[in-house]
Amino acid sequence: MLTKRLAMCAELVSGDGIACDVGTDHAYLAAELLRSGKCKKVIASDVAEGPLRAAKKTLDQTGLIDRSEIVLSDGLLNVPSDGVTDVVIAGMGGETIAHILDKCSWIKNDVNIILQPMTKISFLRKWLCKNGFDILCEKIVCEGRFFYTVIKAKYDGEIHELSEFEYEIGKFDWNYDDVKAYGRFRYSQLAKLSKQVEKIAPETSDVYIRLMHEIKIKCGYME
Ligand SMILES: C[S@@+](CC[C@H](N)C(=O)[O-])C[C@H]1O[C@@H](n2cnc3c(N)ncnc32)[C@H](O)[C@@H]1O
Repeated sequence: MLTKRLAMCAELVSGDGIACDVGTDHAYLAAELLRSGKCKKVIASDVAEGPLRAAKKTLDQTGLIDRSEIVLSDGLLNVPSDGVTDVVIAGMGGETIAHILDKCSWIKNDVNIILQPMTKISFLRKWLCKNGFDILCEKIVCEGRFFYTVIKAKYDGEIHELSEFEYEIGKFDWNYDDVKAYGRFRYSQLAKLSKQVEKIAPETSDVYIRLMHEIKIKCGYME
């Protein structure tokens, strides 16, 4: 069974064609996309041989290897684009994800993109918006003490602009409990940070206070 984080990535896959799982590691996501019947074929790619051996083992053991293509590739550079409708890049830093997208020209051809950055999430949002990608939705997944952001995006060639709040916190539907829990988590983080910097960087402290104020409105009363 997939972790909630990878299950959310799988949920956002369109299932209209071939999904490519970039940085597949053990190919758990790729295997589940096939097992569940969502995809008829997957590409499991990774930059390193070790993870690809693990991917092959998973796909062999689950009897799904015939419907899988295992590709050694830095990002999408060696991945064949034919029939690829979905690209998932999960479990990597925001800068690495942006770099992978930047180096791939066919990602602009109506591909459904699912991103699960572990770090530098606001950097990734800004990069996407500046480089012609539309952030269609964002989800939050809560696993134990950790929150994970999953972004669904597509290239449309337009320059997009989000609000300061959306760049820093996210473009979520605030009706979900996990999103509200994430809001409370970010609120307490920002409260500490704004105190720490209020003397040395009052403008930054003001930004944090603005974000906290908006979180409070989105989540409702939270003290
Ligand atoms: C932390 S694992 C994440 C595995 C899985 N995607 C997940 O979210 O659970 C990161 C994987 O990405 C691979 N990776 C890192 N940089 C990469 C790149 N530029 N291109 C392809 N794979 C990469 C690593 O080799 C590793 O297997």
